[in-house]
Amino acid sequence: MEMNEEKEERVFEVTPWQVSGEVDYDKLVKQFGVSLIDAQLMKRIEKLAGSHFMLRRGLFFAHRDLPWLLARYETGEKFFLYTGRGPSGKTHIGHLVPWIFTRWLQEKFDVEVWFQLTDDEKFLFSDTMERPEQANELAYENVLDFLALGFEPGKTFVFSNLDYAKTLYRQAIRVAKKVTFSTVKAVFGFNNENNIGQIFFTSMQAVPAFLPSVLAGRNIPCLIPHGIDQDPHFRIARDVLPKLGYYKPASIQCKFLPGLTATPKMSSSKPGDAIFTTDTPEEIAMKVKKYAFSGGQPTIQEHREKGGNPDIDMCFIWLKYLFEPDDKKLEQIYWDYKTGKMLTSELKEIFIEKATSFLRTHQEAREKVRKELDRFVLKD
Ligand code: TRP
Repeated sequence: MEMNEEKEERVFEVTPWQVSGEVDYDKLVKQFGVSLIDAQLMKRIEKLAGSHFMLRRGLFFAHRDLPWLLARYETGEKFFLYTGRGPSGKTHIGHLVPWIFTRWLQEKFDVEVWFQLTDDEKFLFSDTMERPEQANELAYENVLDFLALGFEPGKTFVFSNLDYAKTLYRQAIRVAKKVTFSTVKAVFGFNNENNIGQIFFTSMQAVPAFLPSVLAGRNIPCLIPHGIDQDPHFRIARDVLPKLGYYKPASIQCKFLPGLTATPKMSSSKPGDAIFTTDTPEEIAMKVKKYAFSGGQPTIQEHREKGGNPDIDMCFIWLKYLFEPDDKKLEQIYWDYKTGKMLTSELKEIFIEKATSFLRTHQEAREKVRKELDRFVLKD
């Protein structure tokens, strides 16, 4: 009896540093203690900001204290947005998803964005990185992908933990003083073998949630758009910040997007799994044709008869969550594929076309912003 029950349990694990197994989001929401975005909350956001396909289609699906933040906004109290990137390698299209949504929020609510590059984290958590400078260099490459999405100069502040350490460290130790080793063990699953930099790190990730308040000399609400794997950090931040006299940060969380080979979260290390923002049209086409997991039938004849399954098809999934914001067009593709009218090769062509043109524009913007970095970067 017990054995059976165990077998039925789908095993998955989500931490800020690892996502494995098939994620059961209902269970994760309970485990983490976040709230689902229900129809009422969705309407409330739409009333203030309009509709975004990543919300409509359920990609951004959970939150903490969003109604509180919106209520403040409705009475004229502006918030700021805070998000970030751990520079461990090249940027891929999965990384762009929360940033595109953040850019939309900035535009609609007309608010500041604070963007943290955790080069310290990636050094501390990597088995292969020998020098902090490696992560630091990657940070300034990665940030081009963020800024290429059109963030507003003067309202967007990006900083590497290593290069803005003087300001950040002063605040981080205030957080660190309120977090015990046993809390960090319980929240992140650390043990006595973890290095002491790893144990301290969550204090650095908490800082941007209240740094703008420190600098302004008054409390400003904070909204953090992020992949749900980062929630454990902000659980700690929400516990500590009120003890220092600041608001708890609110958050809005997205699901993971799979890699081309159907990994639960797009992976830079597995060959063919990721489309990088710097890939050439040839590389994109090759990866999609060779690696993209398809919901099609084994033969064309069977496909025409039975139809394909768009819900498990990586090209469809990526059109849905990134490359095809137009609901009508997406729906057409869905049904054409499901009824067998559209073949897998045709779906792949649509995807390649969309991804290539998206990345062409992105790559141009990326190079342009390289020359304008000074307008965004904070160092001390
Ligand atoms: N730790 C995150 C990562 O590995 C980077 C990060 C820092 C972040 N601050 C954040 C992500 C705030 C989301 C929101 O990618």
